[in-house]
Amino acid sequence: MNNEIWSAVDRYFQDAFLKRDEILESVLERCRQAGLPDINVSPCQGQLLAIVTKISKAKRILEIGTLGGYSTIWFARALPSDGMILSIELMEDYAKLARENITLAHVDRKAMVICGDARMVMERLIDDAVEPFDLIFIDADKPSNPIYLALAVKLARSGTVIISDNVVREGAVADENTVDPKVIGIRQYCEDLSKLGWESTAIQTVGVKGYDGFSITMVP
Ligand code: DHB
Ligand code: MG
Repeated sequence: MNNEIWSAVDRYFQDAFLKRDEILESVLERCRQAGLPDINVSPCQGQLLAIVTKISKAKRILEIGTLGGYSTIWFARALPSDGMILSIELMEDYAKLARENITLAHVDRKAMVICGDARMVMERLIDDAVEPFDLIFIDADKPSNPIYLALAVKLARSGTVIISDNVVREGAVADENTVDPKVIGIRQYCEDLSKLGWESTAIQTVGVKGYDGFSITMVP
């Protein structure tokens, strides 16, 4: 088993199930040109996020970590016409590019990017007593995952789905002696979820993005 076969299988499923999408391809090309790290979700993962959006009948999505807006566009397209996704991005140049990409994908009426520290933006949303979100996707700096979870809980309702990307990190999550701050953040996130006692699971994935995985939680 190696990355080559994982990628080949990913491409096989992408060819089988996903329509060629010139807009998303040009979004990825623009992200590459701008020198963004190649850590957006894969096309098959984007399709999974879209399907979960539809299954959960989400109308309000909160995304933490926009990067170039690739997953934001997948979510926005899956939302009904009266749905909205609010995506938070720390880096100003990423946020600017994401807004351009969102406009290019014609989802600018459904997707909004807020540039700022996610912790502060979420605290403001809590203070403003905004309507709870139906789906929350945590995909930003991993050491802050426990903070994002604590804040997400306050922005959720019964039935909200919380998904967290990159909880496996090539298996490092299972290393209790890890000194990697990203892995420590993810382990604390999982421990906090465990303590909450809510319905959670995590799925390991392999593919064009290597060996990683995501967790999914249902707020009771
Ligand atoms: C990293 C972050 C991501 O969101 C991802 O999908 C892959 C890697 C990282 O910070 O290393
Ligand atoms: Mg990620």
